Amino acid sequence: MSNYHCTNKSEYRKAYEDSVRDPESFWTAIAENHFQWKKPWKSVLHWDFSTPEIKWFEGAQLNITENCLDRHLNTRADKTAILFEPNDPSEEAEHISYAQLHKRVCAFANVLRTQGIKKGDRVCIYLPMIPELAVSVLACARIGAVHSVVFAGFSSNALATRIADSDCKMVITADGSFRGNKTIALKGIVDEALKSCPGVTTVLVAKRINSNIQLQQGRDLWLQPLLDNANEDCSAETMNAEDPLFILYTSGSTGKPKGMVHTTAGYMVYTAFTFKNVFQYNENDVYWCTADIGWITGHSYIVYGPLANGATTLMFEGVPSYPDFGRFWEIVEKHKVTQFYTAPTAIRALAKERLVNIDDYNLSSLKVLGSVGEPINEEAWHWYDDKIGKNKCPIVDTWWQTETGGIMISALPGIIDTKPTFATLPLPGVQPALMDENGKEIAGDPASGRLCIKFPWPGMARTIWGDHKRYKDTYFSAFENMYFTGDGALRDEEGNYRITGRVDDVIIVSGHNLGTAPIEDAINEHPLVAESAIVGFPHAIKGTALYGFVTLKETATSEEKLKSEINALITKEIGPIAKLDKIQFSEGLPKTRSGKIMRRILRKIACGETEDLGDISTLLNPEVVQEIIDASKK
Ligand code: PRX
Repeated sequence: MSNYHCTNKSEYRKAYEDSVRDPESFWTAIAENHFQWKKPWKSVLHWDFSTPEIKWFEGAQLNITENCLDRHLNTRADKTAILFEPNDPSEEAEHISYAQLHKRVCAFANVLRTQGIKKGDRVCIYLPMIPELAVSVLACARIGAVHSVVFAGFSSNALATRIADSDCKMVITADGSFRGNKTIALKGIVDEALKSCPGVTTVLVAKRINSNIQLQQGRDLWLQPLLDNANEDCSAETMNAEDPLFILYTSGSTGKPKGMVHTTAGYMVYTAFTFKNVFQYNENDVYWCTADIGWITGHSYIVYGPLANGATTLMFEGVPSYPDFGRFWEIVEKHKVTQFYTAPTAIRALAKERLVNIDDYNLSSLKVLGSVGEPINEEAWHWYDDKIGKNKCPIVDTWWQTETGGIMISALPGIIDTKPTFATLPLPGVQPALMDENGKEIAGDPASGRLCIKFPWPGMARTIWGDHKRYKDTYFSAFENMYFTGDGALRDEEGNYRITGRVDDVIIVSGHNLGTAPIEDAINEHPLVAESAIVGFPHAIKGTALYGFVTLKETATSEEKLKSEINALITKEIGPIAKLDKIQFSEGLPKTRSGKIMRRILRKIACGETEDLGDISTLLNPEVVQEIIDASKK
């Protein structure tokens, strides 16, 4: 017997208790009964949070694509695996069956092999949301290459940093992408990035927008002719359980982005298990996650989790506002979507739209609604529940992180009661703890503190690429023998968790994780800028937006021009998602006597909470505070 699928509350309770009492037996039963292994494991779990070292299913051998594709061929060959909905609604949707996806992945994998990619090589994927993105991810996994997908909204500099950090040999891209009524020239961005990445020897280019682009001789190749000539059989590389599957970059509070490394067996088991339970997927359901595969949500819950369960997963190329704000609902109606998973920022943007009448769409296929990426505010929660779910679809508010690999805290629809703004209960296998300022666990409910996890789960990232020390320092040093999430949370009398937000210098804008340091570095590149500090402030659609306090070396002739130059620099270094909504110039920034900028004060000023700034007398320069407050009100 395994606890793979909890269908009622007592099964959830039993699974949870089993998973805490004897985690190894719990995960053994799940792994044994629901996956295909080339060789079984010798030890289920080896862990030490002090080093930190985490190994699941050591000794086992497998290939994740055999679990996502081959093993479904007997029973689901003709079932749609990927349902592709293009940007332009008049372009036909594409239904890619499991048999077709298997062939496409194998052909692509053979192209990679022919181009000299071997097990362990890193391949950067910089593609829009077209089928080639999912196919190339799986093709890498097929031959044991480590994929590093970079969201195609990142700038050439951000792309170059990521390519260089993990030493990628190849980039897979497209001539361009469609986004609503715009096109983006992706290949040009790649060309720019590669000027500083000599390690990349091959660029494969998918044709999407049919633009006139230059191929660099000896480096760039059109993808399609290679696929046309490739064999559609490709043996799956034998992977060890702990071989890296992929690298995915996420922002840290300081320094360059962190390349989180996920490994093969544990990640597969965890994403499959959480997908099945959180979305209660049934055989004929059509599941849709609106994220981009460039983020962890897309990796785990568009590609690996759904495919490991033989699900139909919808991939949408476009944006919620094109051709109008009814697009999501049109797609739900057209494809009879049963589970719909999106982000609070999208919900808020759609809720605000008065021109679209939701009642014009038939949303009766929906059974489960999901939310991810940031805390969902009560108003958005109720709108989602009333207007989209018609009060009949449970909302799963799923809390997790790039680092956790899969969902950690969430209701199970129809099984665990939902509560607006609460992610609710930990999934089986997840042991959260709330810690106080002195590093002690807070026992009993209600409680509020810093959210940690005290026991390993199979989906957790194992290291930061090339910087294990940073992995240890960031996640395992704040609290002894605990994984520290960086989030604050509170727990109610029933043990439900509510995530209150980051307690470090990471800011979540529209569900995207942005570190303050790289943005400040970009601003400081401007010749007129002396110093800068970024904080978050509440924003009706984005949840949190960015507010920059900037000091100048000399007075600017035009502040407006300077502001747009600063945002242009940020766009160049990181991408448009990191642009500032507000920029304020000031004579100085509040600092401690040791010279550290007091962001706490700036955060309060940005939020307009200037009555209670706490004790500022110990500052090095308390006089600047009033000046900044006055200017913020102008
Ligand atoms: O602060 C939490 C917030 O997003 C952070 C993780 O961001 P990222 O690694 O980009 O992954 C996002 C998608 C999994 C968390 O530390 N966060 C994510 N989901 C929620 C959330 N905050 C509140 N409620 C959530 N459901």
